Amino acid sequence: MYIEVRNAVKQFLCKNPAGGDEKFVTVLGDVSLSIERGEFVCLLGPSGCGKTTLVNAMAGFEKLTSGSVVIDGETVTRPSPRYVTIFQNYGLLPWRSVRKNVELGLESSGLTPEERDVTAERYLKLVNLSAFAEQHPCRLSGGQQQRVAIARALAVNPEILFMDEPFGALDAITRYKLQNDLREIVRRECKTVVFVTHDIDEAVFLADHIVVMEPNPGRIRKILPVKLSHPRVRNESGFVELRKEIFREFFHVSDRSIEYFI
Ligand SMILES: Nc1ncnc2c1ncn2[C@@H]1O[C@H](COP(=O)(O)OP(=O)(O)OP(=O)(O)O)[C@@H](O)[C@H]1O
Ligand SMILES: [Mg+2]
Repeated sequence: MYIEVRNAVKQFLCKNPAGGDEKFVTVLGDVSLSIERGEFVCLLGPSGCGKTTLVNAMAGFEKLTSGSVVIDGETVTRPSPRYVTIFQNYGLLPWRSVRKNVELGLESSGLTPEERDVTAERYLKLVNLSAFAEQHPCRLSGGQQQRVAIARALAVNPEILFMDEPFGALDAITRYKLQNDLREIVRRECKTVVFVTHDIDEAVFLADHIVVMEPNPGRIRKILPVKLSHPRVRNESGFVELRKEIFREFFHVSDRSIEYFI
């Protein structure tokens, strides 16, 4: 298996709101998960169920209290250039042009400036932003900035993309468009993706497997395969059925009452 999360437990030392001593809160309680190379996996769950903690542990940003993450046979102890993380707030450097932002990760790669330019151009083209290469991020819309962040991540040719609610701040139409673009790009570039979301539709649209999580402590409730072909159609019966099934997992509601929600 390419990515293996084995019995991951994460505890944080938290202030007791009622005063008194600090105490340990278990945020991830014994999470195990296997992901194959080339898979697109969505971690789906309500706020606070530990999605960010889990993806950060996989990407090497968060140390587990116990358990381990193994990627391609190696235990993860720190972030690696073989995998990149894309956050919700784009993380672009405002004083650099779009092109220079995309080149950021290439500056320590030994490429010549010309080679860096060629690589940046390739990925800007892929996300359809060549025309904006010399602009600064503040001149771009949220969706465009997020595409720059994706281009920057892909430019270093990572094996894995970890994405933590990357489209959370975008309007619905831009979000749909980027979901399409992302799915197409990772198919062409053969990447493995671990994508955090709390949006059921987004997960059904994107994932090969949906890992449904629940809180207190954060754990996996169910892993659902998504067998629908791409590009997926949101009002197609298989899509709607799966969305309902996940909804039931979240809210434990009956078939009848679910019609009020979706
Ligand atoms: N550094 C920290 N110290 C203490 N508690 C933390 C820390 N980071 C996260 N937590 C707690 O861990 C729990 C899980 O947080 P996490 O950010 O992983 O959730 P999440 O599923 O990503 O939520 P959201 O959908 O809101 O982003 C939360 O209750 C949070 O308060
Ligand atoms: Mg989060």
